[in-house]
Amino acid sequence: MPESRETVDFLLGFIRYGLNRIEMLRIVSVVGARPNFMKIAPIVAEMRRRFSRITSLLVHTGQHYDDSMSESFFEELNIPRADVNLGVGSASHAQQTGRIMLALEPVLQDFKPDWVVVVGDVNSTMAATLVASKLLVRVAHVEAGLRSRDRTMPEEINRVVTDALADLLLTPSRDADENLLREGIAPEKIRFVGNVMIDTLHYNLERAAASTVLDRLALVPKQYCVMTLHRPSNVDDKHTLQGILDATTAIAARQQVVFAIHPRTRARITEFGLDGELARQPRVILTEPLSYLDFLQLYSNSRLVLTDSGGIQEETTVLGVPCLTLRENTERPITVTEGTNRVIGNNPERIKCEAIDALDHPPQTTRVPEFWDGKAAQRIMDAIEEHGFGTEDSV
Ligand code: UD1
Repeated sequence: MPESRETVDFLLGFIRYGLNRIEMLRIVSVVGARPNFMKIAPIVAEMRRRFSRITSLLVHTGQHYDDSMSESFFEELNIPRADVNLGVGSASHAQQTGRIMLALEPVLQDFKPDWVVVVGDVNSTMAATLVASKLLVRVAHVEAGLRSRDRTMPEEINRVVTDALADLLLTPSRDADENLLREGIAPEKIRFVGNVMIDTLHYNLERAAASTVLDRLALVPKQYCVMTLHRPSNVDDKHTLQGILDATTAIAARQQVVFAIHPRTRARITEFGLDGELARQPRVILTEPLSYLDFLQLYSNSRLVLTDSGGIQEETTVLGVPCLTLRENTERPITVTEGTNRVIGNNPERIKCEAIDALDHPPQTTRVPEFWDGKAAQRIMDAIEEHGFGTEDSV
């Protein structure tokens, strides 16, 4: 039936023509370091669902480059391979930030996005925001408004700069909104969307149950603690690091501790000659950085987590796992007021006492904060689409 075939071809052509005429929102997402990957995964998935309205480009700055810090997350979280890898690697803050800026500028000039989406508070977040803002490309910052009020933390500087420049500030909790308003950010730029990292947590909880990590490390659920450390304030000074490791050994006498070692921490342990002592502690189990699913399975079954990470404070809150934060402050106070977190600093005696207390008296039921519900990525993309297209004079 040639007529009907022609009619179908004509209609298909017409639809294709129509689709080409629809203006697509052009978005560049920028990631660089491990904690960015679990935040971008649900956002990229949501953009793909909206493929008829959004054209997107994923840029990896290459700030983190080891397989265990980067590639394994892309694979497990089904993040498509980055369209562009800037390959900047490790360097001093100024060099790393500068390299990202130099390499990203031509990418944005070429792609001409309406939006750049940045997540979290790492150097890649701030560098991308600076480049986009100067090219008059609008920036959406996911996880805006968190403040530790501690300017000795490089991440705090990244947060303040990013939020001062961003055009759309997507916040994970109400306290973040208040911080931004106090800093004079216009209310219409702020949107409370919830915690996107918890989207990834919900999505992967069942998949993580298939991980063999507990068998591989010969662990029994709820009979071990997990520790992660990587903040310069904890690992870059020998005396401080030694004190934390001594406290860990003391805790391990009571309950096995699994220590997943970040590359920065590994380098310092070797530099300070602490490897031998650590290796002699049979109840402290050392591992390389774990993949997302292995780590989720590990901490979700643990009795207690000791960490200086930001994200882990949030993840333990959602899963009701007791968490001790080895820092003087937190930019995530909701994990203390509503969750399982206690901020205890890095004094060895205090770490030991707090850990024993947490093992003896685990916190009772906690609340999951508002909008930490697995739907943050939808709200993020709704907000960006509502704000729509860039200005005429951009790039
Ligand atoms: C960065 C982020 C921090 C985040 C952390 C998560 C900044 C300022 N800091 O800190 O907010 O919590 O990532 O991991 O952006 N290294 C490797 N392989 C890698 C990556 C790093 O060996 O794939 C080593 C290098 O020796 C490097 C050091 O780790 O010098 C530090 O890496 P860098 O990206 O500068 O900072 P992080 O401490 O990882």
